[in-house]
Amino acid sequence: MDTIEVFQEELPRIGFGTWDIRGQSGFKALQAAIENGYRHFDTAEMYRNEDIVGEAVAGSGLDREEFFLTTKAWSDNLTHAEIKRACEQSLDRLGTDYVDLYLIHRPGSAPLEETFAGMQELVSEGKTRFIGVSNFSVEQLERSISISDEPIFTNQVEYHPYRRRDALLSFCEQQGVILTAYSPVARGRVLRDKILQDIGDRYDKTPAQVALRWLVQQDYVIAIPKAESAEHQRENLDVFDFVLSEEEMRRIDRLG
Ligand SMILES: NC(=O)c1ccc[n+]([C@@H]2O[C@H](COP(=O)([O-])OP(=O)(O)OC[C@H]3O[C@@H](n4cnc5c(N)ncnc54)[C@H](OP(=O)(O)O)[C@@H]3O)[C@@H](O)[C@H]2O)c1
Repeated sequence: MDTIEVFQEELPRIGFGTWDIRGQSGFKALQAAIENGYRHFDTAEMYRNEDIVGEAVAGSGLDREEFFLTTKAWSDNLTHAEIKRACEQSLDRLGTDYVDLYLIHRPGSAPLEETFAGMQELVSEGKTRFIGVSNFSVEQLERSISISDEPIFTNQVEYHPYRRRDALLSFCEQQGVILTAYSPVARGRVLRDKILQDIGDRYDKTPAQVALRWLVQQDYVIAIPKAESAEHQRENLDVFDFVLSEEEMRRIDRLG
């Protein structure tokens, strides 16, 4: 399957961010997230929680194939040998044979040619299904596309109503790259927004739900909110029963 087919047929538009989810309470939050219906989990070697993400998935009673797991190599693990070892260590901690998506967490100093050679091998060896990048500029993404023989599945970047991404969005759309929005509720900042509140009142939705709806209503965009609270988890998935008008979308665009 190519990126667009996976996007259309398999990839949940709302995934679960796991930064800062740790320990026993973190494990419980992950279990609750699975019960609440999340199937895409976003972790990273840097989050030091791959072990509990793996345990929650393994203990869910669901097949591994039901999940879409993303993890990331930190920027000091990007030589050919380092990225291969980093991925294997992540797989060990996650207790799985493969991840669905393996990302460069942020640009580092190793030559990208080396990094992508290592990542391509990880795909050939079945250790990851897809590869991608995070925190890359348009120029860095363009370079990655020209170097990598494997398609770049996503660029995961900070994206929410206060952070515009016009140039990156149009480049992603042209190239068939998915934009994964991190910090999609701006770490709680959207909650106090009068415009999001006003729009939400029309649909009986919260400002967080309006912000998430605004993201997933855009072409090729998915979002990965993090929520330890089960109530927030359910709220963040409940954004598929209303549609923002063109005028409301533009009003939110202008917040950025
Ligand atoms: N690639 C990167 O460099 C990078 C950088 C940052 C983040 N990320 C990824 O993106 C994920 C999400 O970003 P983030 O954690 O920075 O920020 P976020 O998802 O925008 O915000 C998380 C905060 O918002 C609260 N929240 C979530 N949903 C809410 C709701 N419906 N109502 C009220 N409050 C709500 C959460 O509270 P509770 O937890 O108390 O429920 C938490 O305090 C991360 O977990 C991580 O997986 C990636």
